Formats: sequence, structure tokens, C-alpha cells
Amino acid sequence: MDERPIGVFDSGLGGLTAVRRLRQVLPEEDLVFLGDTGRVPYGSRSAATIRRYAAEDMDFLLRQGVKAVVVACGTVSSIALHTLTDRGIPVVGVVDPAARKAAALTKNGRIGITGTAAAIRAGAYAAALKKRSPHSESLAVACPLFVPLIEGGDTEKGSRMLETALEEYLTPIRDFGADTLILGCTHYPLIAPAIAAHVGPGVQMVDVAAEAVDEMKTILAERNALAKRGRRGILCCHVTDSPGRFAALAGRFLPDTDTLMVRQTTLGKTCAVV
Ligand code: DGL
Repeated sequence: MDERPIGVFDSGLGGLTAVRRLRQVLPEEDLVFLGDTGRVPYGSRSAATIRRYAAEDMDFLLRQGVKAVVVACGTVSSIALHTLTDRGIPVVGVVDPAARKAAALTKNGRIGITGTAAAIRAGAYAAALKKRSPHSESLAVACPLFVPLIEGGDTEKGSRMLETALEEYLTPIRDFGADTLILGCTHYPLIAPAIAAHVGPGVQMVDVAAEAVDEMKTILAERNALAKRGRRGILCCHVTDSPGRFAALAGRFLPDTDTLMVRQTTLGKTCAVV
């Protein structure tokens, strides 16, 4: 047994898709979530900057005494995961678990990949898929406007801005004939219904954060490091921009979380509680 919390980080709201999954499959675990909302989006930045941000995010979680970290960011997982894995605790990114799932799901061997500009440029999803499923073909499309739209609360089908972006990014994937689509940025499940409407009903979508969480569960179980059963874990969220906006949007994505504790931090000291 290990009662220490599990850490989760992302540039923003997207990491809550990992939190949502953790609450479902490991409800007894305490969780510390960091959303670097003061610096989102990461996906338009250089690899060097993303590596620096990732190191700071990781250091913050380590200072909270976490027993493991889910890197709930496709961008960081694509570019910087190898720089985060030498800290003496299990660290799981989203790329490999997602590729494994997509390879298992596809029937026609055509897999679409969506992600931020930096993640698609890095090519990590395509490379992981080639390893898992050498005969499959993939088409990777960068979707740089999705994260700003989602962080702005523009998540509903019918929003004209969102519809334009969906049409622009997803038409090539529909034309490619993918039967499986990797939502390669953890923000994207927050607009999954709108994405489904554009790629068609037969396309199976891979929620990359959910796959990473399932892998983390296996790792902790193997190490006998899960928390004791029979209690509901505490979720504590830290953000680097004002907590109010995050709390309002987060409440929509974590509907069964009764009280949401959100603190503002400067990745060093805590300065406000909402
Ligand atoms: N959720 C992050 C990801 O999975 C978003 C990156 C960004 O901030 O651009 O890639």
C-alpha cells in the first residue's frame, strides 16, 4: 500500500481527462493535478521551451510528495517524456499507451492522429504506431486552434469557430478513411461529440489520457503501491493562472466531483485558494 497521491500535469484543462479516468478506475487515490494555465498552449512553442516547462511541472509535483506521475499532455509526452523518467517514481506518458490501443482497435489499418503542432511535428505517435502495428498506415494532422478554443470554453457543437476548425482539420482524416482516430492531445476528448460528428459514426476514438491512466493502474498494482480500498480520495488542483475560470470550466468536465479545490501557484509557492 502507498497512500501518497498520484500527480497529474498538463498545460491546462486537458489533463482533467486523466483525472476523470483516475476518479473512475482508482477512486480511492488522492490526486494532485497541475494545470499550467498561465502558459497554455504548449503546442505552439519550441521543443526547448516545452522541455523546460515540463521539468518545472514535474518538480512542482515532486514537491507535493507524489508517488507517481501521469504526464497528461500529448505535447510533453511527445517531446520531453524521456527527460522526466529518472526521478525514482513511475512516470507514464500518453503516446505509447495510445498507440497500443489504436493498433488493437483498427480493422482496416488506417489510423488518424490529431494533436498540437509541436506533437505532430515531433512524430512520436506515428513512430509508436509503426512499432506496434508495422502494416498500418497513419495520417497525422496538427489542430492548433483546438486548445485555445477549448480553454476559452468553446466546446459545444454548433459554435461557428469550432465548426470551422473541425472542418479544416478533420476533412483530410475522413477522406483518408481512418477507422480509428487518436485524440493525441488530452484536451480533445472535451470536444469528442463534435469530433465524432465530423469524422463519422464508425470511427473509434482513442482517449490518450484514459489509456495512460490504465497503464498507471497496472504499474502501481504490480508494485503493490495502490492506496487502501474503501475511501474516496481527495482531488487538489493547482493552476498557474487565476483559479476562478478554471474551476468553472473544470466543473463541467468533472460532474461528479462535489467540491473542487483549486489553488493558484507560481510553480513554487501557493498564493490563493478558491
Ligand atoms: N493537453 C495538451 C496536449 O495534450 C495541450 C497542449 C497545449 O497546451 O498546446 O498536448
